[in-house]
Amino acid sequence: MKILISGASGLLGSQLKRFFKESGAQVFPITRVVANGSITNGVAWNPSTGWFDCQAMEGTDTVIHLAGENVATGPWTKRKKARIHSSRVQGTGQLVSAISQLKNPPKTFFCASATGFYGNTGEVECRETHTAGKGFLASVCVDWEREAQKARTDSTRVVLLRFGVILDPSGGALKKMLLPFRLGLGGRIGSGKQYFPWIAAPEIPRIIDSLIHHYPNLSGPVNMVAPQAVTNAIFTKTLARHLKRPALIPVPELAVKALFGEMGKEMFLGSCQAIPSALEQAGYSFAYPNLDATFQSLFQT
Ligand SMILES: NC(=O)c1ccc[n+]([C@@H]2O[C@H](COP(=O)([O-])OP(=O)(O)OC[C@H]3O[C@@H](n4cnc5c(N)ncnc54)[C@H](OP(=O)(O)O)[C@@H]3O)[C@@H](O)[C@H]2O)c1
Repeated sequence: MKILISGASGLLGSQLKRFFKESGAQVFPITRVVANGSITNGVAWNPSTGWFDCQAMEGTDTVIHLAGENVATGPWTKRKKARIHSSRVQGTGQLVSAISQLKNPPKTFFCASATGFYGNTGEVECRETHTAGKGFLASVCVDWEREAQKARTDSTRVVLLRFGVILDPSGGALKKMLLPFRLGLGGRIGSGKQYFPWIAAPEIPRIIDSLIHHYPNLSGPVNMVAPQAVTNAIFTKTLARHLKRPALIPVPELAVKALFGEMGKEMFLGSCQAIPSALEQAGYSFAYPNLDATFQSLFQT
């Protein structure tokens, strides 16, 4: 099996690369280059011209598209927001156009998205059929998914991976939280009542592998979140308990808004109770269904 991964150097891409190589697949990164021209051991992509080395893409079974400007490294200036949007929407359009030129298109095109699609939905349970929300992240996800869906043909299915916050102590949001929590400076954010959609990083390769091998007919949006939905206050308490530290210092809403502006409002104060309905209906069995077991496993490795 030949698998192409864009954003392969990132938090998730590097884990997927390792997982699928270990399972015997041929895995190649889609690598950004500044001038059109082939590279060894990967597929070259020039985002400024939209050029892809289509010849190197032939014979691919699965494409996993993760590339995009990091959302969590703020501040969200006008230029940063434009990069977040265009790297995903334009980037996805370029990749979809390259796929459409292949003699043998891939069977599955996985495209990253996020539970940010639903916006700030309070205590409402968001299954995949829930409508898109308002705000910057929601509008990016809507445009991103629309571009990805254009890859759908009789031979290619499109799966939209709506990730919750990916928990991995070596990167992303959890790594950033660890230092203040280890210093005993952790605490809930704002009221702490906002739902915090999460997924254990090691769960993701298992799910994608199942989608490839066991659920070949599942397509469209898939909420990539654990079944146990928790609020920020519960998340905070559970993390502090596993680190054997107190979590007594709440971060006031006003401070989040002052420090992080729009990014803080959407990413830290927004609430989304996403439910992994598509995976549950397909019969997927989660290895990391709840936070306690997840932290126990993540902190012992
Ligand atoms: N981490 C999370 O909690 C989370 C939650 C929801 C959704 N997601 C989404 O899932 C995807 C993967 O997440 P991740 O945490 O692995 O992301 P990441 O660590 O930020 O990696 C993204 C990768 O995209 C490529 N990239 C960076 N800037 C780019 C740009 N301006 N244009 C095109 N490509 C660029 C880079 O890979 P190369 O250098 O190899 O090209 C980078 O390593 C992202 O699209 C992210 O938005 C992540």
